[in-house]
Amino acid sequence: MSLRPVLTMVPAWLWLLCLSTPQTLPKAQSADLHVEVPENYGGNFPLYLTKLPLPREVAEGQVVLSGGPGMAAEGPFAVDPESGFLLVTKALDREQQAEYQLQVTLETEDGHVLWGPQPVLVRVKDENDQVPHFSQAIYRARLSKGTRPGTPFLFLEASDGDEPDTVNSDLRFHILNQAPAQPSPDMFQLEPRLGVLALSPKGSISLDHALEGSYQLLVQVKDMGDQASGHQATATVDVSVVENTWVPLETIHLTENLKVPYPHHMAQVHWSGGDVLYHLESQPPGPFHVDAEGKLYVTGELDREAQTEYLLQVRAQNFRREDYAEPLELHVVVLDENDNAPVCPPRGPPISIPELSPPGLSNTCELTITVTDINDHAPEFTTSQIGPVSLSEDVEPGTLVATLTATDADLEPAFTLMDFAVEAGNTEGTFGLEWEPNSGHVQLRLQKNLSYEAAPSHEVVVVVRSVEELVGPGPGPRATATVTVLVERVIPPPKLDQESYEASVPVSTPAGFLLLTIQASDPMSRTLRFSLVNDSEGWLCIEEVSGEVRTAQSLQGAQAGDMYTVLVEARDADEPRLSTSASLVIHFLKAPPSPALTLAPMPSSHLCTPRQDYGVVVSGPSKDSDLAGGHGPYSFALGPNPTVQRDWRLQPLNGSHAYLTLALHWVEPGEHIIPVVVSHDARMWQLPVRVIVCRCNTEGQCMRKVGRMKGMPTKLSAVGVLVGTLAAIGFFLILIFTHLALARKKDLDQPADSMPLKDTV
Ligand SMILES: *[C@@H]1O[C@H](CO)[C@@H](O)[C@H](O)[C@H]1NC(C)=O
Ligand SMILES: *[C@@H]1O[C@H](CO)[C@@H](O)[C@H](O)[C@H]1NC(C)=O
Ligand SMILES: *[C@@H]1O[C@H](CO)[C@@H](O)[C@H](O)[C@H]1NC(C)=O
Repeated sequence: MSLRPVLTMVPAWLWLLCLSTPQTLPKAQSADLHVEVPENYGGNFPLYLTKLPLPREVAEGQVVLSGGPGMAAEGPFAVDPESGFLLVTKALDREQQAEYQLQVTLETEDGHVLWGPQPVLVRVKDENDQVPHFSQAIYRARLSKGTRPGTPFLFLEASDGDEPDTVNSDLRFHILNQAPAQPSPDMFQLEPRLGVLALSPKGSISLDHALEGSYQLLVQVKDMGDQASGHQATATVDVSVVENTWVPLETIHLTENLKVPYPHHMAQVHWSGGDVLYHLESQPPGPFHVDAEGKLYVTGELDREAQTEYLLQVRAQNFRREDYAEPLELHVVVLDENDNAPVCPPRGPPISIPELSPPGLSNTCELTITVTDINDHAPEFTTSQIGPVSLSEDVEPGTLVATLTATDADLEPAFTLMDFAVEAGNTEGTFGLEWEPNSGHVQLRLQKNLSYEAAPSHEVVVVVRSVEELVGPGPGPRATATVTVLVERVIPPPKLDQESYEASVPVSTPAGFLLLTIQASDPMSRTLRFSLVNDSEGWLCIEEVSGEVRTAQSLQGAQAGDMYTVLVEARDADEPRLSTSASLVIHFLKAPPSPALTLAPMPSSHLCTPRQDYGVVVSGPSKDSDLAGGHGPYSFALGPNPTVQRDWRLQPLNGSHAYLTLALHWVEPGEHIIPVVVSHDARMWQLPVRVIVCRCNTEGQCMRKVGRMKGMPTKLSAVGVLVGTLAAIGFFLILIFTHLALARKKDLDQPADSMPLKDTV
């Protein structure tokens, strides 16, 4: 073994001076040598620990190091034979082994012990290399309202692997955060050394106002005592706040000498917070017991002669036997057994017996006691809230609304007679009462028509009174009963302006032709939604809101002279369950003999797109037209072309005019010829209406082509202007270049060489 101590020994020597010199006892071989080694030593190895007190004079022996008694080997230790120093060869972990017991001897080669054994105890000095740990990551606790401030309801546990009873394992607990922070940000207090959690005095006051809910606390545990440094760990504490069930108990009456199996359950207490121990004290001591669930028992028979009353105190405590709240008090009264015969009062007329009458004579007297009733009970309704009773607006006066029942606890028939009245909710006299004397039942009946508009609901208060004068306390709250009546609105079904409808059309009628308009008899007061029920051929369509009935397509398959009946349904827009229907009979006519004539196109009009809220007025054939015969009224419809039907909309204005508008938001700009079918008395004309669709300008008007204004350039003049401008620019460029060239030439004229610049220009 060859060691080089020169370089490595300096820090080790310093260490040794600090730690272990005073403990070495060089002369006394048998005394223990104590050496301390720092845990996790970070310097060089071997680390020289202490000089062994080897005798100087015995030089020929060899030093032998072994594990102490009960230790197998010397471990990471060795002795430098030259210097006689004990050394350690690697870093030590106190948490793995805290102490090493060694033994040093000086022996000859044949094993003869010259010196020793010298025991050496090496202690590993702790370093704070262990992080504290909570026993749980999340703690959950139930906290009852009414818990005393300062009484711990949760015990946090944490451990630290460092050497016990040193600052390295000296733990402190803190609350880092409380959520929510209401009603106070510090509802709780955590004992820093013990980790016990309790309500703070402030928390105790505000907890009763807090809603049931939970608080979440972030708690910390840290080593190194109160020093700022150290290792730390955190955990979460969920505290759920629960209602206080620790409520006063009623007195318990127990019969003496009760023959029941014991322990006999008599009452129950309950602390709603978590982890509770119940404790019972009896004053004077008695046979009572509380179990872990808070059930109270009597454990044996009671004797009234020994003790008539006990006062029990039940406590809810935490593990440290501290009361969570004030103890509950419970009186136990021991009842007497009925074991004494009643004694007759010394009253009554004297009974006289003649002198010297024979003995063993007896008689039994019967006394009749009549208890007379007084009217000390007010009549009461059996039910104080009746309804709500729903009544339709159209029920007739006289209808029964409700039957109320009242009772009277008096016995005397005269005292049970009752009087009823409507006390409130009947200002209009809408309701009335009817009752049979003595029956105890009263009927509330309708006396007038109900009106939903006037009052959608009624609260009728009926009062009952005793006919005879009442003795004692007055009538209680059950002397009145409230009947709630809800009025249901009645809306008449919608009515149409005709019972049935009829229209005649030629079989050649195109799609979109207006047949007739169906409307309500009172269109002002209600809005209807129209639909066709059984238009099985699909010939017709109805405009849902306006009620306009039109041909939906060409009447293919219809025979002149035939009839086609469909049912039109009208529903109230506000009350869709209300509806009515009417039949619509269509008579098909022969197609007009002459084909539909085309009139000369109407003068064009302009409409701009995207669609604005104006259109083009289309007039029927003019009066002077011989075709029209000067008669109206005319019907107007769009031609059967589907594109026309999609893009345009035609609304009749009056008998001679209609209004043409764009149906789509955007219609391609350009000239459009819209075929409009005008009909009258089975005669038809096709009227081509010419409309110019243009783009809208910002005012929503047609961007019309403007005629060429004076002085505005034509195409040709524009080209001329362009050419002229270019020519002028060229001219100026030539001028500038020439000028630059001349100026340059002037400069270049000075030196000897000159360049013929002129040619390049
Ligand atoms: C009550 O309503 C009915 C119809 O429901 C009516 O005939 C009668 O006149 C109304 N009576 C009063 C007093 O308004
Ligand atoms: C529609 O219903 C009415 C009444 O029920 C009936 O008279 C008529 O023939 C029906 N029309 C069609 C096309 O089925
Ligand atoms: C029909 O309406 C047009 C356009 O509003 C109007 O010029 C014409 O006088 C009206 N005709 C009748 C008979 O009301």
